[in-house]
Amino acid sequence: MSMFRRSFIAACAGATLAAAAGSALAAGKEIKLGYALAQNSHYGAGANGWSQAIDKSLAGKFSIKQFPSSALGGERELIEGLQLGTVEAAIVSTGALSNFVSEVGVVDVPFLFRDTAHARAVLDGKFGQDLLAKFQQRGLIALAWGEQGFRHLTNNKHAVKSVADMKGLKIRVTENPVHITAFRTLGASPTPMSWPEVISALQQGTIDGQENPVSVLASTKLWEVQKHLTLTAHVYAPVVFLLSPSFWGSLSDAEKAAFTQGAKAGANASRVFVDTVEKKGVEEAKSHGMQVVDKVDQAAFRAALEPAYKQYAKKFGQQTLDAITNVK
Ligand code: PAF
Repeated sequence: MSMFRRSFIAACAGATLAAAAGSALAAGKEIKLGYALAQNSHYGAGANGWSQAIDKSLAGKFSIKQFPSSALGGERELIEGLQLGTVEAAIVSTGALSNFVSEVGVVDVPFLFRDTAHARAVLDGKFGQDLLAKFQQRGLIALAWGEQGFRHLTNNKHAVKSVADMKGLKIRVTENPVHITAFRTLGASPTPMSWPEVISALQQGTIDGQENPVSVLASTKLWEVQKHLTLTAHVYAPVVFLLSPSFWGSLSDAEKAAFTQGAKAGANASRVFVDTVEKKGVEEAKSHGMQVVDKVDQAAFRAALEPAYKQYAKKFGQQTLDAITNVK
């Protein structure tokens, strides 16, 4: 082979390698990030916050591709994807998570948190951080607690003003044993269902109602398929920022720290979003014709839930429930 031909081939190979490396550098390693609602929701705010923080700290190494609106499947499928390593990142509600990490179900106990400040203090404190550490034994890496807000009840049958009005209502609940027990104890007929099926089930009338925070109500325009809203605030709903263990294992210590800090920034962005939407979401629902019951007698709901609380104490330990209640 002539000298000229050898250096021509070497130059071409070099150019090809440089182009490949260049495109990898420009685009970064693609990370799939899935979540249940639209990008302009509190989930999107969290995902944008996380992604922007990674872009800033790890400049061009990773490119986070968002899959909003359950594009990668319902929350159960997303969590399974993380365990299998087919999805790198997700933001998921505790609705589905307690089937994977049973201890997390404790945060779904009705009327456990006094208010948002109490919930945030518990989750950001030792209890919440210890709970995140438990995910690793179940094949998940949990980095931060974001937020949806307090869950409220909507339905198409009648205004719910008291516990008695719950009787017989077919309410979609998450696939979560704590929620199912609560609604059964209140006299409703709880129907566990994955979120992507809910809107059509409400349209077709196979269920009468559902329960979710104002953030979800506003993002999904639930007033288009639901007549009545009761501000029960029965359960505080956090979300968890998660990574797959196989992706986590591929990261250097500095990258792990950047993903963790980024998840905290995203979690905070979801809380800021919820603070805003909670203020205007109910007014928006009213302006679209939703009939709103602004308040219920929470003490009466708690009293009706007494048999459920006995089951929760058995499952999670009364000491754990008291430790949460005692956080100031
Ligand atoms: O009700 C649920 O399943 C969740 O709150 C939702 C709407 C998927 C958001 O995580």
